[in-house]
Amino acid sequence: MYTSTQLLEKINQHIADLNFSRPPKGLYDPVEYVLSLGGKRIRPLLMLMAYNLYRDDVEQAYPSATAIEVYHNCTLLHDDLMDNADVRRNKPTVHKVWDDNTAILSGDAMLILAYRYLADTPVEYLKPVLDLFNETALEICEGQQMDMEFERRHNVTVDEYLEMIRLKTAVLLAASLKIGAMLGGATEKDAKLIYDFGIHIGLAFQLQDDYLDVYGDPAVFGKKIGGDICCNKKTFMLIKAMEKADMAQKEELNEWILASDFDADEKIAIFTDIYNQLGIKKLVESEMEESYIAAMECLDEIAVDNDKKKDLKELVTTLMKREI
Ligand code: IPE
Ligand code: IPE
Ligand code: MG
Ligand code: MG
Ligand code: MG
Repeated sequence: MYTSTQLLEKINQHIADLNFSRPPKGLYDPVEYVLSLGGKRIRPLLMLMAYNLYRDDVEQAYPSATAIEVYHNCTLLHDDLMDNADVRRNKPTVHKVWDDNTAILSGDAMLILAYRYLADTPVEYLKPVLDLFNETALEICEGQQMDMEFERRHNVTVDEYLEMIRLKTAVLLAASLKIGAMLGGATEKDAKLIYDFGIHIGLAFQLQDDYLDVYGDPAVFGKKIGGDICCNKKTFMLIKAMEKADMAQKEELNEWILASDFDADEKIAIFTDIYNQLGIKKLVESEMEESYIAAMECLDEIAVDNDKKKDLKELVTTLMKREI
């Protein structure tokens, strides 16, 4: 069995060795660009770790792991366009370096490339893996659509928020783990448990992403701070702040939400200040803690030696405190 550090090195090396360059450069250079910036590679890593719970020949899972990472990066190109985000992984986003159409088309090409890697999945597992991948990718579109619709809604509930982040983020972590387990030959019961484990860590992962969008260090996080505030994203933090705010705070938040022309830094400072006054940090932490506990319960039930689950547990604990 490999350590998570070894598996991360392996998948990073594998992806670094891929060659995307072919004409026209305008289509494929952005693919090289975004993949060369790395990122945490958490999804392929989770897939390999899940596979490695059952089998040691982890190379078998490289095609599907690559597919998941290329697909994830495709969603980022489109997401940055939709969120009007200028910086990712400490570098200008594809639609900034090139243009909007490039982000759309190179993103599309990455989706097809992802399917090309997926097609190399060992044939006995191809159909179930493809089914899960397709369902997951549709769910992500659904979550992204909800995320956008929520920008214009003022009565989004915490439950609606949780469903939206389950769809846009958690299902991909869950599917990565489940595909890894399936390829490793896990029982259906274990595959379902590891999927549910992924959903819970995925929820915590997006809660932390939203938290870092306000409280992160931009140099470490690699994205601009306050992007969600500027877009009126209905994050857990904003929903909770609206719930807890007194009349004056509510009015102030609403005024900024409705303003079409505003100073971004000022809006971010005011929202952050209100979040601080209302103790929103603590609320996010306890919501994440709940997901963490639920995740661990699923992991505990998986019929694999506890020794083998140690690295997954550790990884999740580190993810909960991540600043990047
Ligand atoms: C960013 O994903 C999109 C979210 C679901 C929050 P990551 O935080 O995994 O981004 P990279 O791949 O490490 O850059
Ligand atoms: C992104 O959520 C989810 C997907 C890309 C599908 P965010 O919009 O919060 O992700 P970041 O913060 O831009 O990475
Ligand atoms: Mg975004
Ligand atoms: Mg987004
Ligand atoms: Mg975000």
